[in-house]
Amino acid sequence: MSGIPHDHYEPKSGGAKWLHRRLPIASLLYDTVTIPTPKNLNWMWIWGIVLTFCLALQIVTGIVLAMHYTPHVDMAFASIEHIMRNVNGGHMLRYLHMNGASLFFFAVYLHIFRGLYYGSYKAPREVTWIIGMLIYLLMMGTAFMGYVLPWGQMSFWGATVITGLFGAIPFIGEPIQTWLLGGPAVGNATLNRFFSLHYLLPFVIAALVAIHIWAFHTTGNNNPTGVEVRRDSKAVAEKDTVPFWPYFVIKDLFALGLILAVFFAIVGFMPNYLGHPDNYIEADPLVTPAHIVPEWYFLPFYAILRAFTSDVWVVMFTSWITGGIIDAKFFGVLAMFGAIAVMFVAPWLDTSGVRSGRYRPMFKWWFALLVIDFIVLMWAGAMPAEPPYSTISLIGSAYWFAYFLVILPLLGVIEKPNSAPATIEDDFESHYGKASGTPAE
Ligand code: HEM
Repeated sequence: MSGIPHDHYEPKSGGAKWLHRRLPIASLLYDTVTIPTPKNLNWMWIWGIVLTFCLALQIVTGIVLAMHYTPHVDMAFASIEHIMRNVNGGHMLRYLHMNGASLFFFAVYLHIFRGLYYGSYKAPREVTWIIGMLIYLLMMGTAFMGYVLPWGQMSFWGATVITGLFGAIPFIGEPIQTWLLGGPAVGNATLNRFFSLHYLLPFVIAALVAIHIWAFHTTGNNNPTGVEVRRDSKAVAEKDTVPFWPYFVIKDLFALGLILAVFFAIVGFMPNYLGHPDNYIEADPLVTPAHIVPEWYFLPFYAILRAFTSDVWVVMFTSWITGGIIDAKFFGVLAMFGAIAVMFVAPWLDTSGVRSGRYRPMFKWWFALLVIDFIVLMWAGAMPAEPPYSTISLIGSAYWFAYFLVILPLLGVIEKPNSAPATIEDDFESHYGKASGTPAE
């Protein structure tokens, strides 16, 4: 696909021309920040910048924390206390990193649901979407391993429960679990490898973010109408777009400023609100906490994992036809990973020719139900695994799968979409009136 026609960098000074012939890095940066961006992007397009900020924050605070942290079962918990009490600014650093993870997930969920509503995952942006899903998986892995590092009760027992899931895989499960843990149970080898990977993965995420940005700069951004920027000529493209710098940079930074005001208030005044008090008790392999609850951002998938108990008929049926190979535990694991896998393939499950949910009268309702479903699953995941919560989790899980596997494919066939505006310019003018000149004037 040819990109959106726009100005390209021209080196002017002798030095710039010299460098440009050898390494066109200035043109890469210039073209990246001045990329023509649909001028009707709304406030749901701010999350990418918030996510980029979060990644940088986690890397910077994480590197400094690592300078004072000791990845050994006898010292990890004490080293965190040392950071909190003795290291200059250590208290702040730790709380920034801890709550930074929550802001990261809050932003990523809004970013994902934005994509699901406006059909940003659809052709030609499937690769942007798939890379995004890979980032999301790595984020989950990184956060999970990071939570083990303080070596509190939840760290230890969370790691034991989650790595135990791999043990549920028939035949090869146990060797995989032992391989992951570096031994028969969660111990020093586990803590060490989790620390090593927790340090590494954010850099892999950063590389994927660069590819993610490259991918959507190739196709151009989606926008609330789902209508593409016109590419006939530079003059026509300019009617639908404004350069990313300064217009969207300023808008995104303004939004980031507001979000950070709330974030810093949480970090400053209620830093442990989202955490679990049991993680301030040092890990003890001999004492199991009454309720093992993961961090809030894992809860919807944790609810799906626990929803499929041995008295659910699909589980009974599957267990029967597979001769017991797929038991309730393995079924739960498959359901949890399946719930993410269906998001991966959303671009091919959605059969509608209309991209944006704004012009899809039936889709809107099913989508709203998906958002509610996600919140309900999050709530149910924090509750004990017993009725009525297990039933609610089961209904929620069923809807999650039904949305992707049945509703999305069917809606494309039965729904009669409303008409979208012909151009982005039309949409912009219907909201803000006719522009009196080009943005540069
Ligand atoms: C570290 C994590 C991530 C970062 C830094 C990031 C960054 C960005 C940025 C800067 C944009 C441009 C528009 C915007 O701000 O919304 C974008 C667009 C997009 N992202 Fe992400 N993203 C991340 C994770 C994800 C995830 C997990 C998904 C979901 C699968 C995803 C899917 C998309 C899609 C489909 C677009 C295209 C939307 C458009 O063209 O307007 N991203 N991302």
